[in-house]
Amino acid sequence: MVLRAVDRDLWVAEQPLRYFGLSVGTRMTVVKLAGDDLVVISPIQLSDGLMNDLGELGTVAHIIAPNLYHYLFAADFKAAYPGATFWATSALRGKKPELPIDRAICHRQDFANVPGPETPWPGLECLFFDGFKTLAPSGPDPLDEWVFFHAASRTLILTDTAFCFDETFPWLTQLVTKIGGGYKSLSPSLLERVATTDKVTVKGAVEQILRWNFDRVIVAHGSIVDRNGKEQFKQGYERFLGCAL
Ligand SMILES: [Fe+2]
Repeated sequence: MVLRAVDRDLWVAEQPLRYFGLSVGTRMTVVKLAGDDLVVISPIQLSDGLMNDLGELGTVAHIIAPNLYHYLFAADFKAAYPGATFWATSALRGKKPELPIDRAICHRQDFANVPGPETPWPGLECLFFDGFKTLAPSGPDPLDEWVFFHAASRTLILTDTAFCFDETFPWLTQLVTKIGGGYKSLSPSLLERVATTDKVTVKGAVEQILRWNFDRVIVAHGSIVDRNGKEQFKQGYERFLGCAL
């Protein structure tokens, strides 16, 4: 099995990934909606094993590139599952116009004028993590990340807005994240601390996220926080923002 069950109707799959030469890995999340529809968030490289696993679970109906960085394998998914809707954060259309994006992710209320269900992913809510930036080689760069809440399993699904590395990662990754942040604490790293100047906007996004009743937090880089994730997320962002939440 490539996919690993995390909870009922919730799976993850991981692959190695290096960023700035550091082994950080990457993780995709799969949510099964009512019926057989599957939502794939932050897809990893597609393989026969992964396709077999997905085929046993249901129908890949939604492929989500949740921020301006996690789109590398989304087009391959769309090619393999042409009937699925490829969702992306809206600015990705400008950054990567060649991607076969079907729809921009938008807030629930923006679906009010669309016929059919109120949300395209019943049971899965989303919020825009406004104001958050990372430090790219070219300078501060917006992530434009959407974060997700799977209510049935009380799980918050983040991509690059927090990390949680530990001793399961290579020593260099441990060393760098001990210094730069995100080691055994659910928090952004020094790169985001330097790049994110609009702390007021980020605080607003974090406060909205904290209204969700989550206990587990899935991150794309680092280990999953299975319990007490809300308190750890709150503490990580209190340190990041330098204020109480
Ligand atoms: Fe990432």
